[in-house]
Amino acid sequence: MENSVWWKNGVVYQVYPRSFADTDGDGVGDIPGIVRKLDYLAEIGVDALWLSPFFPSPMKDFGYDISDYRGVDRIFGTSRDFDDLLREAHARSVRIIIDLVPNHTSDEHEWFVESRSSRDNPKRDWYVWRDGKPDGSPPNNWESIHGGGSAWEFDAATEQYYLHTFQVEQPDLDWRNPEVRAAIYDVMRFWLGRGVDGFRIDALPCVAKDDLLRDNPHNPGWREGMPLGMRQSRLNSEDAPAILEIIHQLRSVTDEFDGERVLIGEAYLPLERLMRYYGDSLDGLHLPYNFGLLEVPEWTPKTVGGLVERYEAALPEDAAPNWVLGNHDNPRVASRVGSGQARVAQMLLLTLRGTPTVYYGDEIGMTDAEITPGQTRDPQGIKDPAHNRDPARTPMQWNATENAGFSTAEPWLPIPDAKETNVESQAKDPRSMLALFRQLTRLRRETLALNVGSYVPLETGSRNVYAYLREHGGDRILITLNFGDEPEEINLPGDHKADLLSTTEMNPEAATFTETLSLRPNEGIVCRLRKTSG
Ligand code: GLC
Repeated sequence: MENSVWWKNGVVYQVYPRSFADTDGDGVGDIPGIVRKLDYLAEIGVDALWLSPFFPSPMKDFGYDISDYRGVDRIFGTSRDFDDLLREAHARSVRIIIDLVPNHTSDEHEWFVESRSSRDNPKRDWYVWRDGKPDGSPPNNWESIHGGGSAWEFDAATEQYYLHTFQVEQPDLDWRNPEVRAAIYDVMRFWLGRGVDGFRIDALPCVAKDDLLRDNPHNPGWREGMPLGMRQSRLNSEDAPAILEIIHQLRSVTDEFDGERVLIGEAYLPLERLMRYYGDSLDGLHLPYNFGLLEVPEWTPKTVGGLVERYEAALPEDAAPNWVLGNHDNPRVASRVGSGQARVAQMLLLTLRGTPTVYYGDEIGMTDAEITPGQTRDPQGIKDPAHNRDPARTPMQWNATENAGFSTAEPWLPIPDAKETNVESQAKDPRSMLALFRQLTRLRRETLALNVGSYVPLETGSRNVYAYLREHGGDRILITLNFGDEPEEINLPGDHKADLLSTTEMNPEAATFTETLSLRPNEGIVCRLRKTSG
């Protein structure tokens, strides 16, 4: 089959291990819980899991503060549990992608413990240490991404500041130091050798900072209500020229291993800068994450269609596109676009050109939960309550019982009412969102046009309908998405007939139409066009 590299068309599903399934009754999800749900994941058509960090960690940033890159935190299980997960996932043809966090460690990592112990410790320059200014203030004006405030912390024992782009407990490694690079590359070899299928690389642009650590300018686009960590434009604190060499090295290490391993990178950058991450001759990241759909200012055919066109136009030749609809750092899609549009959004994700990434629970339409200040656990949410990430991190809703089938104990974050929004009831209902999701993933697998086909936007004559064709070898798949809550009719030029493959109403009988296609409010339809004559 053409385009058979799995990461070019497979469905990636993000699991936030704390919130997926708890098997040992401590209210926190674990790796055996993920193993237990593999049949479900395979059955709904997931090709790969990306697991947020499960490594030993003081959990100041819920695992993104790593104190041992090669282990498994006790709260999530054991190294043997991880090997079970790899084996059981692979037995079901599900790949495992893990998080690589190269920019920073926990302050409890032994490297940092040594580094802070004295100015002449051999690990001192594994981290970014600087003297304060003559008046004792921090070395420059850089602010933390998590809630603003200085990104420097004064260490009284050695009388210098260290840099932390995120929490105080997450000191930044100094990637100008070749020993640091070698150490992280060995971490990659450790996991690749163990059998993981790739990495999602955390906060990648941050590893390349201005050599002179010059101040960042104010972000002219910042407005009241935006995250405090965005007040500065990160001109000098990330994405310095060295990034390209680092990306190339990350790729070379990955290429030491056979078996179609994948490198995915987290980089919130403008399109033209993001595209450089593919590498000059596609020898960089396989998939620099495309966060366009997380960032669209409004959910309309015009903005979404415009975004798709800009992305398509910016892609280097032969580069693999990808789309992300949700993750653990942003409000859930069903809350961003409104519950009525949640299905339309999944249909979009699963029919656009490129690898889709689905956030756990979005397949059943989970929405952001209400989290009171007293319940807030996210360190960013504590500093900047308007941008608390907890509402999108609540436990997976498996059934309608008290803790939604997630745990026998009180979960680490509260679970909203799961009476309808849960896997068990949706699995029984052929009209559920889960049923639609399953049908869409099946269709993707069976339909080459949806995997490798071209993307051709269509003029619909309606400002509420977004429509496009995916075409391959004469097979034409039409996708029409009604973004509005009024019925719509669109006319398709030419004389053709269409077999309806899927609608939000799951109505296989409504199989044909000629010229005019009617859409119900908030309805999306995918169909295969066939010419009736000529
Ligand atoms: C990334 C992660 C986020 C984390 C941060 C620091 O943005 O997705 O959850 O807090 O990096 O590691």
